[in-house]
Amino acid sequence: MSYPQTRLRRLRYNPILRGMVTETHLRVDDLVYPLFVCPGTGVKNPIRSMPGNYQMSVDVLVEECRRAVAKGVKSILLFGIPEHKDEHGHVACEHNGIVQRAIRAIKAEISDIYLIADVCNCEYTSHGHCGTIVDGDVHNDLTIETLAAQSVSLAQAGADMIAPSDMMDGRVGRIRQALDDAGFEKIPVMSYAAKYASGFYGPFRDAAESAPKFGDRSTYQMNPANSNEAIREVAEDIAEGADIVMVKPALSYLDIIYRVKNEFKMPVAAYNVSGEFSMVKAAGANDWIDERRVMMEILLSIKRAGADIIITYHALDAADVINGQVIK
Ligand code: PBG
Repeated sequence: MSYPQTRLRRLRYNPILRGMVTETHLRVDDLVYPLFVCPGTGVKNPIRSMPGNYQMSVDVLVEECRRAVAKGVKSILLFGIPEHKDEHGHVACEHNGIVQRAIRAIKAEISDIYLIADVCNCEYTSHGHCGTIVDGDVHNDLTIETLAAQSVSLAQAGADMIAPSDMMDGRVGRIRQALDDAGFEKIPVMSYAAKYASGFYGPFRDAAESAPKFGDRSTYQMNPANSNEAIREVAEDIAEGADIVMVKPALSYLDIIYRVKNEFKMPVAAYNVSGEFSMVKAAGANDWIDERRVMMEILLSIKRAGADIIITYHALDAADVINGQVIK
């Protein structure tokens, strides 16, 4: 008898066969593309730390949405950069707020698109924290009231899904109740359920102009060392009515994605955050890595770990690869 008996390599010689035994497939439908909307017209400000991403005025944003939909990327996650900020983030709840205007404009122009509205206060508060400050700390129960008001306002503007990213306790239940009371019982909530206090958000805070002016977010976002706590966070959000649960960031938290998927069998989203994106871009620009290949490998790993939905700034480039527009 020859040795070895098991030759796993047999399945690897032929590319057609390799295709047949591929276990994980990345689809354009899995991808959500985050975009930043700002005041003005004709504005397209490059975000220095996120090559290829821009703060866009509503008119430019609509065109970018058209470009995304043409590639098959039909889900957009919207973030706003308002004209002014206030102490409590009330600007986020205004009928004519920046994201509300953007949603109405996109919906008026494009029919086959799905708009997810990020709900948080940090882009709208003068101090950059994710809620109302009392005695130097974000006050949980006051903050969930503004988040509920923001959610209803975004739903009224036409948002298809609400995605709270603040990490206050009880906000999913409060938002669910507010949406239902306002007649939006069909609007799902995708909660940033296990969101870590991460250094990988740095470039996003340039993009959204949302860096905290004092302290950090470690009294509300999770400690990167914790895993069981993520399960508690996710369980709580599900109990409060979350339809989809998110793990964020993705790449350094693949174990959390895996655990959450296995434990709850819920639709799981993973946020491939700004810092993860920018590292790939920087190394790619220096020719230190094959950017496209690494991008696809990262996205595939997030899917393999158990994510159903991947929120990523790579969405359009990945769609080109998946659609066969570029040589792999
Ligand atoms: C708002 C929010 C943040 C991100 C998404 N929503 C930043 C933060 O918590 O500071 C980060 C996204 C990214 O880095 O791409 N709370």
